[in-house]
Amino acid sequence: MMSTLPWWKTSIIYHCYVRSFMDSDGDGIGDLPGLIGKLDQLNDGTERSLGIGGLWLAPIFPSPGMDFGYDVSDYCAIDPTYGTMTDFDHLADEARSRGIHLIMDLVVNHTSTEHQWFREARASRASPFHDYYIWSDKVQGRPPNNWGSTFGGSAWEWNAPTGEYYLHSFLREQADFNWRNPEVARAVHDIMRFWMDRGVDGFRLDVANYYVKDALLRDNPHRIVWSQPMPGNPCATLIIPVVQEQRDRTVDQPETHDSLKAMRAVVDERPGRMMVGEVTHRSLDQVLSYYGRGDDELNLVFNFFFMVRRFSAQAFRDIIAQTLARLPDDAWPAWVLSNHDVVRAVTRYRLDAPMTKAMNGLLLTLWGTPFLYYGEELGMANTALSRTTLKDPVGLKYWPLPVGRDGERTPMPWDDGPNAGFTSGTPWLPVGTVQDTYASQSADPHSVLGFTRRLSRFRAEHRALHEGRMELSSGSPPTVLSFRRSTPDETLSVAINFASTSTPLGAGSEIGGHQALFSSEENPPDNALAPWEVRIFRL
Ligand code: GLC
Repeated sequence: MMSTLPWWKTSIIYHCYVRSFMDSDGDGIGDLPGLIGKLDQLNDGTERSLGIGGLWLAPIFPSPGMDFGYDVSDYCAIDPTYGTMTDFDHLADEARSRGIHLIMDLVVNHTSTEHQWFREARASRASPFHDYYIWSDKVQGRPPNNWGSTFGGSAWEWNAPTGEYYLHSFLREQADFNWRNPEVARAVHDIMRFWMDRGVDGFRLDVANYYVKDALLRDNPHRIVWSQPMPGNPCATLIIPVVQEQRDRTVDQPETHDSLKAMRAVVDERPGRMMVGEVTHRSLDQVLSYYGRGDDELNLVFNFFFMVRRFSAQAFRDIIAQTLARLPDDAWPAWVLSNHDVVRAVTRYRLDAPMTKAMNGLLLTLWGTPFLYYGEELGMANTALSRTTLKDPVGLKYWPLPVGRDGERTPMPWDDGPNAGFTSGTPWLPVGTVQDTYASQSADPHSVLGFTRRLSRFRAEHRALHEGRMELSSGSPPTVLSFRRSTPDETLSVAINFASTSTPLGAGSEIGGHQALFSSEENPPDNALAPWEVRIFRL
């Protein structure tokens, strides 16, 4: 039976860092024609492809590239590095014909300082665009408050022509919009309509909880907090007390919810469109508040708390239970383990191929929308880079601290050809690290790719898996994460063994004695789960 739910609830969404996906013209940078040439791998309607239903493109708008597209200088055009508007229309057609919905990255907390609006705004206080941005005079010879940029240093930058500071929550080349000006909201709504009219199905909202800032520009408090552990990231394995700016005046302002609700109304003008928000996490409740009263604000919100867990059944069970307990009634979860800003999960958790299957098995069987970062279907790891190859300004600034983001953005290793088939030129970053390339894994049904494709197919064929609600099972062995997914016609039970030894299922277990419909193993043992096995039963 066909699903009655919207595509963004039932599909796997693939996060494509276009710059590193496939280069068609030999300049060493991925582009739209390159991506079009690989769409069949993402979904050709058969089990030979990944079977995705959504494709989130990292920003492809014209940009000086200080933050690789997160500094937009024109929201209604395509950066020539990636192609032309004709290429974009072609991509939209080709994606649609494969059942792939396009999601654009909407970066509207800030623009590039090269955007025409900012160029005019910074030239004169009388410019109609001046109030599109946030300005302050000197206060006793200094910036008006202690707000810091997320990328380090003060968030205020002096603008000599008008004799005032402008605010930048990120790089100084990324000037923050003044969302208290209704003209800004109107301009953003027009941008959204522009892309929806061109066939775009959704938007990923960059730093969605940053939009509105305190009107009185009051100081942020500082507190001593324990650093957050991020397994595998040497910067974040030490749990030490650190003095941290609490962004109480700069993020999560109540008016930001109003701005997002107004954007939701624009999205709802066209059927089947959606927004997914990047909400930097302070608390799970604060993240989940961006669903609004359930389903009147963001359609989906990334749950980054899932990403900072240890790789264990217990750790994942805890965050899943907390999420299910606190999710507003009509809200739909979104799960993610890797993206272009954090060390890839395979590296963070030091996963080998069987463990990577367990990870992809988890992502693809939970209730909610899974986001797969490009290369995750292969078990791609971070690439170790020398200082001379770094491109991310954040990485360059903090070298040798491993906080740069280039390592998780390296080109996709397609085959055994020069530059792993990514480009005929010199790749902008060294090619990605993976045990086997796309081509070699493609030929092997037991590779990480073969497994992920097979599970994606199985997920699409079983409504309980792409639609059914979820209930964590009790009584399974401590290393086994087990849960039920059910619709009125079918109940499936998923069991994932987070252990390098086989785990007896035990007579009392609800899955013992049931025949497997799906397994990551070729010959799954009776009454036990093989190490890192993903098994699915019908109850
Ligand atoms: C988001 C993006 C990140 C970017 C930042 C500023 O966190 O994911 O890549 O640097 O916003 O736009």
